[in-house]
Amino acid sequence: MTDRELLSLAKKASMNAYVPYSRFPVGAALECEDGTVFTGCNVENAALGSTICAERTACCKAVSEGHRSFKRVAIYADSENWPTPCGACRQFLYEFAPDMEILCSKAGDRYVSYKLSALMPHAFNY
Ligand code: THU
Repeated sequence: MTDRELLSLAKKASMNAYVPYSRFPVGAALECEDGTVFTGCNVENAALGSTICAERTACCKAVSEGHRSFKRVAIYADSENWPTPCGACRQFLYEFAPDMEILCSKAGDRYVSYKLSALMPHAFNY
C-alpha cells in the first residue's frame, strides 16, 4: 500500500470521529507488518479525560485482533499544524513498534513522516 493510500484511509476514518466537545476529528490508519490495516478515530466523552485518540483506537483494535507488529501509521486531521501524535499515543505505539513510521497529513496534499523513535526518545520502559 502506498503512503497516499494509507493516508486516505486515515482521512476516511476521521469521518467517524465522535467529537462533540473539541469539534476536532482525527483519523488513523495503522498498517501491520503483514499488510493488515486497522483504522481508528477519536472518541470523546463528557468526562474529557476518558477521551481516546484516533491512534490508540486503531492500536487497540489491532492488538485485540491479535496483531502486534506495526509498520506505519497514517494520521489525518484537517488542521493548521501537522497532527503529530500526542505523548500518550507515542508511548502507546512505542510499546509495540519503536521503529515504526508515522505519516501525518493535514488539509491539502502534503504530508510529513517521522520515525516514532525520533518523536519519542527515552520512552518509558521497564
Ligand atoms: N487527538 C487524537 O485523536 N490524536 C492525537 O494524537 C492528539 C489528539 C484528539 C483527542 C481529542 O478528541 C481531540 O483530538 C482534541 O484534542
